[in-house]
Formats: sequence, structure tokens, C-alpha cells
Amino acid sequence: MSRLALLGNRGMFGRDALPVLEAAGFEVIGADLPEVDICEPGSVEAFFRRTAPQVVLNAAAFTDVDGAEEKEDEAFRANAKGPELLARACASAKALLVHISTDYVFPGERPEGYLPDDPPGPALGVYGRSKLEGEQAIIAALPKEGYLICRTQWLYGTTGKSFPDTILKLAATRKSLRVVNDQWGAPTWTRELARQIASLIHEGARGIRHAVNGGGPVTWYTFARQIVAEAGLDCIVEPCTSEEFPRPARRPTYAWLRDNDATNAQPWQEGLREYLTKIVARGKR
Ligand SMILES: NC(=O)c1ccc[n+]([C@@H]2O[C@H](COP(=O)([O-])OP(=O)(O)OC[C@H]3O[C@@H](n4cnc5c(N)ncnc54)[C@H](OP(=O)(O)O)[C@@H]3O)[C@@H](O)[C@H]2O)c1
Repeated sequence: MSRLALLGNRGMFGRDALPVLEAAGFEVIGADLPEVDICEPGSVEAFFRRTAPQVVLNAAAFTDVDGAEEKEDEAFRANAKGPELLARACASAKALLVHISTDYVFPGERPEGYLPDDPPGPALGVYGRSKLEGEQAIIAALPKEGYLICRTQWLYGTTGKSFPDTILKLAATRKSLRVVNDQWGAPTWTRELARQIASLIHEGARGIRHAVNGGGPVTWYTFARQIVAEAGLDCIVEPCTSEEFPRPARRPTYAWLRDNDATNAQPWQEGLREYLTKIVARGKR
């Protein structure tokens, strides 16, 4: 059994990933702020000394895409400096670094989507640039057999800010909703991402991989319609453009993360169904 350190274990992905990773045979040691700060060398060193991980799964990050435009230093600290420190610590400890990255490293201009080997950049905003710098720092610090970068997108889970949850709450109280229909991606359920990461580690995958739910890209509008239909809510979902909902940070238009080596990815409709079952069971709805 491999000892796996899950950093960012109290975030949206971390909380849902823990039972999946344990079921996949890992001995999981979770950590998050304040007990470990991935941006502080002393904190990282002490954590490695204390836990001697064989695999480090980094889900710790600054993930507020709009907030990053104002808090550039914080975003680069967590998303670039942190991964660099972890990569150096993994190099010394001969541990595998598995790092979660994002479609925001791409400009999002390709209707056919992006493959793992496609050159990333230029990112559209601070969050994407900071995540790209994190990827580059890992690649510079470790040989290819020392890291696995898993890019994912449109992540939702049972805690934190979840798009399905927002839609369910709005749809329960409104007659109609307008949802953006000009951004394309793969809605990805945290547990499916965790399952794919566990499989990739077991298979010995290295380098950069894309890990998303299957079934092809959709727009937020299509996803929202499916959420409302699955929940049996009586709310009309209407399409609109991104211009109608201006945000501080630009979003990629076409940033579907494809991976020709990915087989058996759970279709996004099934992922959504599993998510709805879980949140109903937890009494979140
Ligand atoms: N959410 C998405 O739609 C999405 C899409 C694509 C990729 N991703 C990537 O997926 C990963 C997981 O995302 P998520 O949605 O689970 O994020 P999240 O909910 O924001 O969780 C991140 C966790 O990391 C912690 N953290 C932040 N800075 C840290 C530091 N310096 N040291 C230790 N822990 C720190 C956070 O603590 P605090 O809350 O106290 O700051 C939080 O518990 C991230 O790498 C993200 O970039 C997310």
C-alpha cells in the first residue's frame, strides 16, 4: 500500500477524494492550512519528515478565479511557488508528485479541445498564468518519471462552491434561469477525478494527463438544463451569452480537455446523477 499525502484535504476536491483514494488502496494522510503551508519551506520540510510520503497529491491552491485578478501575489504564491517547493521536496524524498492543474492554462480558442501535449498558454488571466507557472516549475524541478500533472475542469463536489448546487438552489425558487451558452467544457465530478487519478497512479502514468468526465464538451446552459431535469424541478432554463454576466476574469471559450489515452471515463450525465444521489443522501437538498 502506498502512503499518499493529500494536500488541500479540506477543499472541495480533497474532501470528496479521500474515501475514493482509500478505496483504491492508498494509505492517505490529509493536510491543509494551517497545519501545512505548501508555500513555506520549513512547513513543507517538517511535513515530509513527519509523514515520509511515497506519493504527494497536491490539491492545495488559490482557486478564486475572479479574486486572483486583485490578489496576484497570493495566487502566484499558492499556485506557482507552492508547487515548486513540493517538487523540490519530492525530488529529495524520491516521492511521486501528482499535481492538479486546470484548463485555464490554455487560452480556450479551440472548438476541438486541447490534448495534454498541446503547448499551453497564453492564459487569459492571473489564475491561469499562476497555474501555468506552477506546472512549469514542477517540470523544471523533476524528471518526467517524478511527476504526474492532471489537468481538470469545471469541477464540482459535495462541498464548496458547486455549480449544480447553485443551479438547484436558484431553480427551486425561480420560474426561469438564464445560463451562459458560449463556453464549452467537461463538467467533472470530484469523485470521478479522484478515481481517474488513482487509476493513473496505479498504471504508472507520468507527465501531463487530462482527467475529466467523458461524453464530450457541453456548455454551462446544457449542463444546467440537465441538472434541473434530473432534479425534476419546474424551472425553464434559457441560454444567454457571457457578455450578459460580466466577470472580473475572462473565461476560456473552448477549453475542452481531451485525452486520447483516457478510457472508461464516466460520462458527465452519470457523474451528475451520482452527485445528486450523494447530496440527497447527505441531506444537502
Ligand atoms: N474548482 C474547479 O472548478 C477546478 C477546476 C479545474 C482545476 N481545479 C484545481 O483543482 C484543485 C482542487 O481545487 P478545489 O476546487 O478543491 O479547491 P479548493 O476547494 O479551493 O481547495 C483548496 C484547498 O487548498 C488549501 N490551500 C490554499 N493555499 C494553501 C497553502 N498555501 N498550503 C496548504 N493548503 C492551502 C485551501 O485552504 P483555504 O480554503 O484555507 O485557503 C483549500 O482547503 C486545485 O489545484 C484547482 O486549481 C479546480
